[in-house]
Amino acid sequence: MIHNEKIDMILSRKSVRRFSAALSDEELETLLHAAMSAPTAMDYQPWHFVVVNDNATKENLRSFLPYAKMINENCTGIVVCGDISLYEEVSKRDGEDNTLYWVEDCSAASENLLLAAHALGLGAVWTGIFPLESRISKLRETLALPENIVPLNLILAGHVLSEGRVKDKWDTSKIHYEKF
Ligand SMILES: Cc1cc2nc3c(=O)[nH]c(=O)nc-3n(C[C@H](O)[C@H](O)[C@H](O)COP(=O)(O)O)c2cc1C
Repeated sequence: MIHNEKIDMILSRKSVRRFSAALSDEELETLLHAAMSAPTAMDYQPWHFVVVNDNATKENLRSFLPYAKMINENCTGIVVCGDISLYEEVSKRDGEDNTLYWVEDCSAASENLLLAAHALGLGAVWTGIFPLESRISKLRETLALPENIVPLNLILAGHVLSEGRVKDKWDTSKIHYEKF
């Protein structure tokens, strides 16, 4: 394996769930820049990002997101959403449903965002929304999302209070050559 600082940065990313301070405007903008540089199907860039700083909204999110209870005033919430209306024309034209490409596109953006946070010495964690309908509908209501905008996840990001450990996920049994 080749050792390289940028690769090491990817290998050392881990979820951070305890924060000491929310993102500054400049940090937030940097993370969103990284998110919006992800690859997307047909270059559609279907993403929208809803930034949550308001404490009352955070409290509301805590009440129906059991695995995002660590959201508080010391972190910034970022809901990564996809615009599913972009794919309707293409789906009709091609006769195949392309709609779910938004999930891949927004997942790529989310991973970019997590890596950018780590690169800046910040922390972040992806918390799950899609495909759970109960979470999607409550989030839709809370954030006033239009019909065509579907939330993928809620990312919490901020300054690190305590870090988890890096998990070594390297597993040669997951690699297959030529055929499975
Ligand atoms: C689709 C998805 C949903 C996740 N949902 C949650 C969640 O709701 N709450 C949480 O604390 N972590 C969540 N995580 C983070 C995972 O628990 C974490 O990535 C995994 O345990 C591996 O740890 P690492 O990120 O430190 O490598 C989620 C990650 C993904 C990709």
